[in-house]
Amino acid sequence: MNAKTILVTGGAGYIGSHACVELLQDGFKVVVVDNLSNSKIESLNRVQQITGKKPSFYQTDIRDKQALADIFAKESPTTVIHFAGLKAVGESCDKPQLYYNNNVYGTLVLTDVMMHANVKQLVFSSSATVYGESSCPQYTENFPLGAINPYGRSKAMIEDILRDLSAADRNNQSKYPWKIALLRYFNPIGAHESGLIGEDPNGIPNNLMPYVAQVAIGKLKQLSIFGNDYPTPDGTGIRDYIHVVDLVKGHINAIAALNSESYKCGGCNAYNLGTGKGYSVLEIIDAFQKVTGKPINYKIAPRRSGDLAECFANPELALKELNWKVEKDLHDMVTDTWNWQTKNPQGYI
Ligand code: NAD
Ligand code: UFG
Repeated sequence: MNAKTILVTGGAGYIGSHACVELLQDGFKVVVVDNLSNSKIESLNRVQQITGKKPSFYQTDIRDKQALADIFAKESPTTVIHFAGLKAVGESCDKPQLYYNNNVYGTLVLTDVMMHANVKQLVFSSSATVYGESSCPQYTENFPLGAINPYGRSKAMIEDILRDLSAADRNNQSKYPWKIALLRYFNPIGAHESGLIGEDPNGIPNNLMPYVAQVAIGKLKQLSIFGNDYPTPDGTGIRDYIHVVDLVKGHINAIAALNSESYKCGGCNAYNLGTGKGYSVLEIIDAFQKVTGKPINYKIAPRRSGDLAECFANPELALKELNWKVEKDLHDMVTDTWNWQTKNPQGYI
């Protein structure tokens, strides 16, 4: 059993709630800080239902420095997993200030509070969107960065800030240096196999999987496939979909790595969390139809601006340095999404 306390920002959200389950089941004490701007407290009741344990919860905005400092003083976490952030690409183009304020300024406040509390272990939710367009669709961590929208740029800026914090400690030969893992997620989908927690988007979903699930259950009439003229085998976009439970296990392994010999002198490293295999939009629809037995009504629509034809991870570094690899396949991802969707047709209520 591990009695360490992990502070989870954004822990009531989609990925954060799944992380809480894994952390509690691994014996960690969990403290959630979430302002509930894009989630409901019910997710944490469900976490308790699954694990039999209750995370401590603070409804607090991470930009509220004093409140955050008080939480650190009271709870004495050893490590922070930082999920809190806004994530809708389209909204970030309409409201860039909101995104930079919430994501970048929020992280500045968090890291400031962490430094004052002498807590310098951090696992950060980055994204494959930090990469620039590449002629090779399989992305490796050392590919050039070049996000193309404010959301992606907010993640890239945060990565820069965290690398700079770590470099400053290295230059100063700090006795207690920052230890940071930047986890670049590809496309998280699926849900906990209990069907008690899952993705509960506000309004009409932006992302493929929740959209398909809502068409299958009859909440939405028709899926638009954004382009079937890409240079891919069936013409539709290819992405690296990863089961959310595999994804959050990567965070547990990252915490172990930060506590290991390899991070003894500190450091800030990026790791892709993906399966290494891509599926097209049509392949996802086909898998969904097979699992659910329901036809998915779709039409071909124009390409969505900013979309790449193909993008999937090279996950070798995470295997080598975090000892992490995925265990679940597309069938599991679709089955678990459908289980969550059918058990919670209105999401958390
Ligand atoms: P989510 O919206 O479900 O969860 C984010 C949580 O953070 C929410 O509960 C929200 O209420 C909270 N939050 C937002 N701003 C906050 C603030 N200022 N203070 C306190 N709490 C705040 O999103 P998710 O899908 O669980 O994503 C988690 C993280 O992973 C995000 O940082 C996101 O950018 C990143 N990410 C997600 C995906 C994806 O496809 N889901 C892909 C790559 C990266
Ligand atoms: N798609 C459709 N119709 C839809 C929604 C999506 O055809 O209604 C297509 C897209 O064109 C793309 C694929 O389905 O080819 C996946 O699209 P998503 O919106 O599900 O995912 P993205 O790859 O565009 O982006 C997601 C998150 C980002 C994150 C990125 C990488 O939205 O926040 O994965 O992690 F950064």
